[in-house]
Amino acid sequence: MRHSRGKRCAAVLALGLLFGTVAPLPLAAAPAASKAASVAPRIRYDAAHQLFRIDAGQVTYAFGVDADGMLQTVYWGARLATDDPLGAARVSPGHSSFDSPGSTSPQEYAGWGGRITIEPDLKAHFADGNRDLVLHYASHRIDGDALDVELRDIRLDVSVWLRYTVDPVTGIIGRSARIENHTAQAMTVDQASAASWNLPAGDDYSLRYLTGSWAREWRLQTRAIVPGATELGSRRGTTGDQNNPWFAIERGGQWNEEHGEVWFGALAWSGSWHIRVDQDVLHQVRVTGGYNPFDFAYRLAPGQTLQTPVFYAGYTSDGIGEASRLMHRFEMNTVLPQRADTKLRPVLYNSWEATEFKVDEAGQEKLAEAAAKLGVERFVVDDGWFGARNSDHAGLGDWTVNREKFPHGLKPLIDKVQGLGMSFGLWVEPEMINPDSDLYRAHPDWALHFNDRPRSEGRNQLVLNLARKDVADYVYGVLDRLLSENKIQFLKWDYNRNWTEPGWPDVAPEEQQKVYVAFIDNLYDIIRRLRAKHPGVEIESCSGGGARVDLGIMGLTDEVWPSDNTDPSDRLSIQDGFTYAYAPGVMMAWVTGSPNWVNNRKSSLDFRFLSSMQGGLGIGANILEWTPEENATAQRYVAEYKRIRSTVQRGRLYRLLSPRDEARQSATESVSSDGTQAVLFAFQRQGYEAERYPTLRLRGLDPKARYRYRLIHGEAAEGTPVEASGAYWMNQGIDLKIQGDLQAAGVVFERVRA
Ligand code: GLA
Repeated sequence: MRHSRGKRCAAVLALGLLFGTVAPLPLAAAPAASKAASVAPRIRYDAAHQLFRIDAGQVTYAFGVDADGMLQTVYWGARLATDDPLGAARVSPGHSSFDSPGSTSPQEYAGWGGRITIEPDLKAHFADGNRDLVLHYASHRIDGDALDVELRDIRLDVSVWLRYTVDPVTGIIGRSARIENHTAQAMTVDQASAASWNLPAGDDYSLRYLTGSWAREWRLQTRAIVPGATELGSRRGTTGDQNNPWFAIERGGQWNEEHGEVWFGALAWSGSWHIRVDQDVLHQVRVTGGYNPFDFAYRLAPGQTLQTPVFYAGYTSDGIGEASRLMHRFEMNTVLPQRADTKLRPVLYNSWEATEFKVDEAGQEKLAEAAAKLGVERFVVDDGWFGARNSDHAGLGDWTVNREKFPHGLKPLIDKVQGLGMSFGLWVEPEMINPDSDLYRAHPDWALHFNDRPRSEGRNQLVLNLARKDVADYVYGVLDRLLSENKIQFLKWDYNRNWTEPGWPDVAPEEQQKVYVAFIDNLYDIIRRLRAKHPGVEIESCSGGGARVDLGIMGLTDEVWPSDNTDPSDRLSIQDGFTYAYAPGVMMAWVTGSPNWVNNRKSSLDFRFLSSMQGGLGIGANILEWTPEENATAQRYVAEYKRIRSTVQRGRLYRLLSPRDEARQSATESVSSDGTQAVLFAFQRQGYEAERYPTLRLRGLDPKARYRYRLIHGEAAEGTPVEASGAYWMNQGIDLKIQGDLQAAGVVFERVRA
């Protein structure tokens, strides 16, 4: 149903009937929900107050049209009663002549123009020199769990369609904008966000965000929100690991996993991005996210449009632990391409750390035989199988099998792997090119570059300009051929450098900066087409570790590689940081050699397995060198992992003790979605004096049900009952005997059938 400005309902409605389901309010309701008279629709419009309201999960979100015609947030927080009156959006009185009403109102999507001095959502300039854009509400339509609201400039025929979607289970709302130039002149978008999120005014907010660098990704940072701005982002052309496009804002400075209000969100975009958190003169907090405005210019000829990515956000009053669980659930059920049908991550073997570029048919076959004996389900050949790829100096771009290493092509190895009962996977890095490659010799103009300027290499490679249609077609073509000619079930899709000199000389100068959008749109399109044509193929997003993990790429891939750092102790922090934003069900973790290549740290096989079992388990060690005892240990852990992986990958995660800030002790608990199993992992990086390991009090169990535990590894304190109620395990807890350095325990709690 579509409503337009100016058609306000003439009837004067009694105040208490706001949103009432009984009153004859002109509510534009979701058709599905309106069928059941007792269930209020999730998205409603109150025409009397020009107010939009979304109720889902534990969240209510409301925004409306103010007297000036601007769209303002009215409420975002804990779910309200269906008939609670929220009233109309009011224009803020402003603060002084320096802080105008428009700029101190919580704008949903502000154009830069008129009285706006805050961070705009949209800034543009026009061919005639005008740079003023004032967006007013024009119309809307509600279609099930989606709402589209049209804003229009007060003079020019420019429309911005804001789209709101809602996930009924988690209450997570998705927002994006489509900018349409219907004027007769060119309009250049200088800056465009997907959305702005306004929090209630407050002085006691803390911002949590993730930072990192190669091999030390996923560090959780905290800073108080004070007047001014905090900018998170990437100008690298890709997501990057310096910041990740996720935020959480909590009330108060105290860390609390299970209690307290948290507003959180993540941007679904794998290109240059920014999320900016502002606190204004009235202490109002606003989070704006979308394309990074740096070097951004997207020219819209008359009739052209720009669709922004989606910025998702949610709310909980149950602490950052619940914020993470909501994100995990949303990702697993709504974001991932296979959603509810998502397969459990198979146990994987990858020889990268064992062989590096020295892959060949005989060597890989031997590894495959050894891997199969351990219970591995997927065998992946990493870098080095193609072109002249004997080191990272050559070969990227030439995606044909290296016949010296694989004289008969990949078929004999694939047959062998599949004959051993494993699926076959292959490493690719399709967006890159080594100058020392046949592809570069044939098409030097295919790399990102400016004419007559140097081309800076990173890991001896350049970035292919995927914004070009011929390049995108080539990349799709080689991958399609590879998947059509070989029985490949998995691609590890890597991306090992950032952009530099992002020129696109074969289009007009005023079109060149479209590269920031067109590259990613084409990347997504290539993966989408490949998935459609080869539906059995799963994909991992890797970027020298975790430099491309975001909800955009996650919507097209099945798992991600969080870090090249596979040291099991460092990994505890990496994995902990990862889980604030992303689900353990997509987080791959390998058991590799000891001492670890990253930091030379030695650790036991038990510690390595238990650390890796917190995510999707893989093995990346040279297993041909393992002793019979090590093989037996590995077999036991792999078999155990298969019994608990559904809980680890799809269950509810509780961070009982966090290893952040280099804490010596850490523990996680995962509870299966049906509540029948809980898996506890406990770690000690370093022992200290005669200190006892902290008692671990479980969470998320049914207090009345009974649970019996068994140990995967480690020992419980004397006197620990084998079976007790959920209330016991959650209140009395369990004491584990963990002493010394790099020690760990794993415990499985099974619900006892009544
Ligand atoms: C990147 C990946 C590694 C490995 C190498 C291969 O660094 O993160 O896992 O695949 O490339 O060159």
